Amino acid sequence: METADRAVVLNTAQALKMKQKINVGLIGLGTVGTGTFRILTGNAESIRHRVGVPVEVVKVAVRDPKRDRGLSLPAGVLTTDPMDVVTDPSVDIVVELIGGYEPARSLLLEAIARGKHVVTANKALLAVHGIEIHAAARRAGVDVGFEGSVGGGIPVVKALKEALAANRILSIYGIINGTSNYILSKMTDEDRSFADVLAEAQQAGYAEADPTFDVGGIDTAHKLAILVNLAFGAGVDLKDIYTEGITAISPEDIDFGRDFGYKLKLLAIAKARGGKVEARVHPTMVPDEYPIAKVGGVYNAIQVVGDACGDIMLYGRGAGSLPTGSAVVADIMDISRSILMEPSRRLPAVTERAHLEVQPMDTITSIYYLRFTALDQPGVLSQISGILGRHNISIAQVIQRGRKEGGAVPLVVMTHTALERDIQKALVEVKSLASVREQPVLIRVEGGPE
Ligand code: NDP
Ligand code: HSE
Repeated sequence: METADRAVVLNTAQALKMKQKINVGLIGLGTVGTGTFRILTGNAESIRHRVGVPVEVVKVAVRDPKRDRGLSLPAGVLTTDPMDVVTDPSVDIVVELIGGYEPARSLLLEAIARGKHVVTANKALLAVHGIEIHAAARRAGVDVGFEGSVGGGIPVVKALKEALAANRILSIYGIINGTSNYILSKMTDEDRSFADVLAEAQQAGYAEADPTFDVGGIDTAHKLAILVNLAFGAGVDLKDIYTEGITAISPEDIDFGRDFGYKLKLLAIAKARGGKVEARVHPTMVPDEYPIAKVGGVYNAIQVVGDACGDIMLYGRGAGSLPTGSAVVADIMDISRSILMEPSRRLPAVTERAHLEVQPMDTITSIYYLRFTALDQPGVLSQISGILGRHNISIAQVIQRGRKEGGAVPLVVMTHTALERDIQKALVEVKSLASVREQPVLIRVEGGPE
């Protein structure tokens, strides 16, 4: 055996001999924290077997230590000061599951500065401060696990970081907000109201502390920023990601979409465009027969197209206690192995490389679903189609539903592929027609006839 190889074997044996167990400190014991704790304790034996030594929770920070969480916590582990977790010299891995920007950011940076490995499911934090956190970890020689931050229980971070590393990624299409998909699915399949279904998603623990992050598309944009970073090897500014949520979606548009053979989904879309990237989040109509159209409820799906592997679709529960706990515990186990085996030889995350420019939204092309509320009188359709034509927008299909002479009725147009800038200009002109009432509705379509 070569001297260097022998040294690695000896170091590994020494590390395994020295470390009898891995100590974990949890900051936050809510939906994801309890899932993480349940898996670490419920599957302790198989985790010990896979890691090589026991993995134990030795400290847990919460706000309210009296709250019944249905867990039997070891005596003395609870604290209300998260710094107790960060400064505890016995803690090897600090797991941040409180959410938000502060104190989460400072706690993670402090843990890293103290040479501790960290795990987080906090996509909002990573989308904004990810570069800073990863850079600090690299300098300190510690790992940052963030599998739980995108897609709940779906191992998409590891897939992009490691399993698909050989590819140039061409595009990503994702349903990556469980709450929005749950709401849209129930509105589509059960004719339920938006508010009613949102309350149900909150009750199930899927929604963010501030659910406007979910329904406003912001949580999806946070996750898209993380995916773009992993897939395209550079950071993007969150503010450059065009973001539109589902709050303005009406049952009427879901119905019309059905008539055209489409399902309405909140999609995160990223496409490689030369040296730039197209990155956007908005409600999107997708053909019924597409696999992503069949993703219902809290399920998420991420379709990745690589230049070598072609199409890959990852599917699973995108939110919730145990699914997200599964991702968090996998990170803890992975890091435990690298603590024991020293030094990590895994492929690094690509988060610290150059900045990637996002293609301006008005230069993208798409198929568009447009719904106008127009007076039911002769000549209106030709006025609208004339404006669209003058702006280079070609019409694929038109539906007018109902008859109300002199009254306003919905007039729905499905276009061929058009330029966003042309569509926006045309809508301003159509809106100014005396025969058109209300703001026109625009929903982008992926995968229809070009
Ligand atoms: P919860 O609101 O359910 O839990 C938050 C936990 O953090 C609670 O236990 C709370 O204590 C504790 N906490 C909050 N602030 C402090 C503080 N200053 N000091 C000590 N403890 C504190 O959130 P989730 O579990 O839903 O989310 C956690 C993170 O995981 C977020 O970043 C979220 O975006 C992310 N995430 C959530 C998913 C989900 O399905 N819910 C899925 C994927 C990621 P107490 O219980 O006493 O109030
Ligand atoms: N609120 C998020 C969702 C949690 O609904 O998808 C999972 O990241």
